[in-house]
Amino acid sequence: MKAFGVVGHPIGHSRSPEIHGQFALQCKLDIDYLKFDVEPEKFDSFVSEFFANGGVGLNITVPFKEHAFRLSTPASEKVKLSKAVNTLYLNEIGELVGDNTDGPGLVKDLLNNDILLEQKRLLILGAGGAARGILPSIIEKSPASITIANRTIEKAEQLQQEFSHLQSIDVVGFEDVDGVDTEPYDVIINATSLGIQGETPNISPKAVKSSTCCYDLMYSSDDTAFVKWALDNKAQKAIDGLGMLVEQAAVSFEIWLGAIPDTRAIVDRIRRGE
Ligand code: ATR
Repeated sequence: MKAFGVVGHPIGHSRSPEIHGQFALQCKLDIDYLKFDVEPEKFDSFVSEFFANGGVGLNITVPFKEHAFRLSTPASEKVKLSKAVNTLYLNEIGELVGDNTDGPGLVKDLLNNDILLEQKRLLILGAGGAARGILPSIIEKSPASITIANRTIEKAEQLQQEFSHLQSIDVVGFEDVDGVDTEPYDVIINATSLGIQGETPNISPKAVKSSTCCYDLMYSSDDTAFVKWALDNKAQKAIDGLGMLVEQAAVSFEIWLGAIPDTRAIVDRIRRGE
């Protein structure tokens, strides 16, 4: 049986085995997909042993995505820009290749929800690994403008500089979100980790208009704090990251196995709490 897995520390919360198990059932493929909680100092040796023992693919989650990037050959220019890897595999000549399916997964789920980025005014909240990971795929969609708001301005400026050859990016603090200009945004994406504590960035409701679509990279069984904020401020749509979670898994599955699973059925199952 082909062996796959997800590596993190901790890893208890991961839904990846269940999602990939469902994909495999749908596609009538026999796979083994396990969770691996690996101590940071053992990450390199774990990865080499996994593949030396015939493993086919690994997903990488917090806190190892940057580490996995350094360990592998980037699959594309986009991966080089994101400096993070969530999917590992060996190519035909046995090289360890790293890909990042978070950005493609997000863009796919935005499309599933009829949210287009082309020529839209986009606000990204957060400038950490999650924001960096999705930026290459977002820029590819040619938004009219991108503003990054972050608590630590220097981190947003770092992204502004690294992506400047592809897109000009405005940078603000949360308190200045509607100070850039007076126009609200078409799309607001929350890429901060504040939702873990049930909080949301403190930005002005003026950022939202009745046609604004809000997307939280975080998923929880109840509305996330950012989804609640968006609904309270009458955004047109407020969507959490469950769809992205399933879509990024589907892109990994396709990279490894060449099969395209039906993501909708799985999103619906998880939403129903099954
Ligand atoms: P990830 O890889 O999940 O993006 P990260 O790199 O630690 O994690 O980034 C987390 C993001 O959430 C950052 O934008 C961080 O802001 P800073 O760059 O200022 O650290 C943001 N964040 C986390 N906790 C926060 C808090 N209490 N208030 C405001 N922003 C916060």
